[in-house]
Amino acid sequence: MRIILAENFEEMSKKAAAIVRSQIILKPDCVLGLATGDTPTGMYQELIKMYENLEVDFSEVTIFNLDEYCSLNRKNAQSYYYYMHHNFFKYINVKKENTYIPNGTAPDIDEECRNYEGQIKNKGGIDLQVLGIGANGHIGFNEPDINFEAETHLVKLDKMTIEANSRFFSSKDEVPTTAISMGIKTIMQSKMLVLLANGETKANAIYKTVKGKICPEVPASIIQLHPNATMIIEKNAAKLLLGQ
Ligand code: PGA
Repeated sequence: MRIILAENFEEMSKKAAAIVRSQIILKPDCVLGLATGDTPTGMYQELIKMYENLEVDFSEVTIFNLDEYCSLNRKNAQSYYYYMHHNFFKYINVKKENTYIPNGTAPDIDEECRNYEGQIKNKGGIDLQVLGIGANGHIGFNEPDINFEAETHLVKLDKMTIEANSRFFSSKDEVPTTAISMGIKTIMQSKMLVLLANGETKANAIYKTVKGKICPEVPASIIQLHPNATMIIEKNAAKLLLGQ
């Protein structure tokens, strides 16, 4: 795995956006896997600027999102559908029919998971997957567990994730307790991974991901086995890695 250190959030975001832009230049009809949360917001802003400056064209790009909460309507401002539209899609020229986000309110969640996995395969798999990381080491919503879940599946959210994500809701009780997430195999089959980490709360997870043993208790540790993975780590998130 390649480690790129960034001085701050802005540098991390610019470097990530530059990698995404390169991917689109190399393969205009590429398939991107994208993430939500606070960490990639700067990257989306940089990509929007690049689009406005005619440096990147999303007209042939397909986008799959990593995950979505169950039980939140797409109009709910905390749904990842809403997040992607309001932080990114509405500012660029990606075609709506080329954007995929799991439907967390589907009547049959297992069927929705199977369909999502099938849609990724039909598009030829993901060329570049962008990832954040949870303070508990999760990627997507693959929570610490006793085994790795392979494909897109229904997840019961970890206490730590509910706690961390409650900052977006008016109370902890409003945070959904389940979600749909791409699985570890889905993520690992992407041709390239770019994981972003920002802030000291991620330092422990980053240390275990890079230096720890590969185990499902730290889901991100599996990235050690990916043949083309890059981590862009802001300096506070890299503290333990740097022995500070
Ligand atoms: P964050 O979430 O970017 O909001 O810190 C990352 C994650 O939980 O994967």
